[in-house]
Amino acid sequence: MPNRTKVIKPLLIPNGRLIDPGQGIDETGNLFIAEGKIGWLGQGKLPRTGYDILDAQGLIVCPGFIDFHCHLRQPGFEEKETIATGAQAAARGGFTTVCAMPNTTPPLDNPSVIDYVKSTAASDGAVRVLPIGCVSLGRQGQAPVDFTALASAGVIAFTDDGEPVANSRLMTQALEFNRLLGLPIIDHCEDRSLTEGGQMNQGALSARLGLGGIPAVAEESMVKRDLTLAEHSGGHLHIAHVSTAGSVELIRRAKKRGVRVTAEVTPHHLSLTEELVAGYNTLAKVNPPLRTREDVKALIKGLNDKVIDIIATDHAPHTRADKEVEFTEAAFGISGLETALGSLMGLVHRGEIALPVLIASLTSEVAKIIGDKYSRLGTLAAGAPADVTIFDPDKEWLVDPDSFASKGKNTPLAGTTLKGKVMATIYGGKIVYIDDKMGMVRG
Ligand code: DOR
Repeated sequence: MPNRTKVIKPLLIPNGRLIDPGQGIDETGNLFIAEGKIGWLGQGKLPRTGYDILDAQGLIVCPGFIDFHCHLRQPGFEEKETIATGAQAAARGGFTTVCAMPNTTPPLDNPSVIDYVKSTAASDGAVRVLPIGCVSLGRQGQAPVDFTALASAGVIAFTDDGEPVANSRLMTQALEFNRLLGLPIIDHCEDRSLTEGGQMNQGALSARLGLGGIPAVAEESMVKRDLTLAEHSGGHLHIAHVSTAGSVELIRRAKKRGVRVTAEVTPHHLSLTEELVAGYNTLAKVNPPLRTREDVKALIKGLNDKVIDIIATDHAPHTRADKEVEFTEAAFGISGLETALGSLMGLVHRGEIALPVLIASLTSEVAKIIGDKYSRLGTLAAGAPADVTIFDPDKEWLVDPDSFASKGKNTPLAGTTLKGKVMATIYGGKIVYIDDKMGMVRG
């Protein structure tokens, strides 16, 4: 978090293409930041001296990205990631807010662990870290957490992510607490009885490779159950990492019926297919698994149709030892914070999604889901926290995991070239990441 006691110098960002979907803004102009807040956008009064200038000619200037789903691993798995390295990776990826998943050891199931994450984030974190609490004690799927106590401790949502909530009564209870507390219930949709031993998407390819399959229906049957429970309870259900065409259709129909559901999709499910697993590439092993081209098409359409509300990374860092093993032994997960923008810009360059839609799904739409307390995030409105991302939509760069800030070097994109790169990330008025090529004039 920025050092609030130190005065942060005002900053003028001239000549950028300012895109703020929440306010319907897409225009070329200037942005002025002072005292850690957005001062003005377009034209406004400048002090005579005493501010820095970061020229954004040819660049996009937008609200800082918000990641609703990432694994920071601390406490317990510091060899995979820490709050410090994860937040640094976030800054490099253009994220100024990250929501930390509770599958740590100990899990985030009681207020003292939440306090630990918050204080570690305050001292070590380059960006804002918002903790997410468990649904069940120990993520065991049996006894519920003390939802009210966790809400008071500052969690912004509840989930047992990594594990489904198999027990329908517990899920109903969580959804009822949503109505009381207003915090969304994030759903890892997986029927474990259908995925046991599964390693990749179930289909002709898994059969050819001799790998256990994870069928689409294992996700869809749980999506269906939980949409039904959400409809009955009236609670806000947020479906994590949607990966199949069938899930998109179920959510589409539920939204039409007025069910309180939101949904997210990851950059990897939007841009990669199961084909990547063909050489037993453990870097492409993730849960839910990479699916088929038809699924990818349906996910993109779902995003364009607003059936899927947001994009979240599901950043899941692992050590080399976790991945450099037999496919069946390898951990599930992709390190995603630092490649998110580049891989998503591929969709924009191919004309599959519009740039403002992409930015909305990483900013204003996420802020809406997080809720009232954080309604000043994801916007460039005057007075909002000065969380800003500046990126070059056309800059090509080679993905070299060794240069990642994240400890997780596990990406199937290693060695590929992406088009679209974060040039600077500003959190609370402070530059937390800047590309070497970005010139700053000190005032
Ligand atoms: O691939 C995954 N990795 N999926 C999950 O649900 C959990 C995550 C992790 O924590 O590594």
